[in-house]
Amino acid sequence: MPHPQSRPLPQGGSVRPITRWGTPVMHRELADVTSFDDELHTLVADMVATMYAARGVGLAANQVGVDLKVFVFDCPDEDHEISTGVVCNPVLTLPEGTDRNLEDDDEGCLSLPGAFTSCARPDTATVRGVDQFGEPVEFSGTGLLARCLQHETDHLFGTVFGDRVPERARKKLYKQHQELAEGYADDWPVGVDPNAAPDDED
Ligand code: NI
Repeated sequence: MPHPQSRPLPQGGSVRPITRWGTPVMHRELADVTSFDDELHTLVADMVATMYAARGVGLAANQVGVDLKVFVFDCPDEDHEISTGVVCNPVLTLPEGTDRNLEDDDEGCLSLPGAFTSCARPDTATVRGVDQFGEPVEFSGTGLLARCLQHETDHLFGTVFGDRVPERARKKLYKQHQELAEGYADDWPVGVDPNAAPDDED
């Protein structure tokens, strides 16, 4: 049964190459979405196809080189309930005061494939925005979904999770990625069989 807050993701998109950390579009705030047109709908469908090919749980537009504030996700929460959705122009709300609990868990990013390190983030998150048709959407999550909503919103403001970990952990991340880099072609995940062995990253 689909999670009540899930919205169906568009199908039939084409897989695009994933942009890596270090490319300028990954490290600056993106433009607001203002046109909910065919071009946006094609982009969103392609992002969904790319996320699935890469076995990710979320993908932001700059991860396919596009300067627009939109992300897609298909991600379980702490109760293993899957939520799916498209969010343009997200506004993130995080718990404050005594409601704010940080959770330390491994995090990875499709734009630095193969590398994971622990990253502390609030254990719940809410994102409000609009979908690819300009209709209001709101998603709340716990567990990996909370992490994903924060990670993807961060991308749209030019922050990668390596910016949120200590320097030592960041160096370890790059080292891990370097060691596995030859496993990821420059145009990865183009040509990857989406039914191949699973490997969760966001
Ligand atoms: Ni990422």
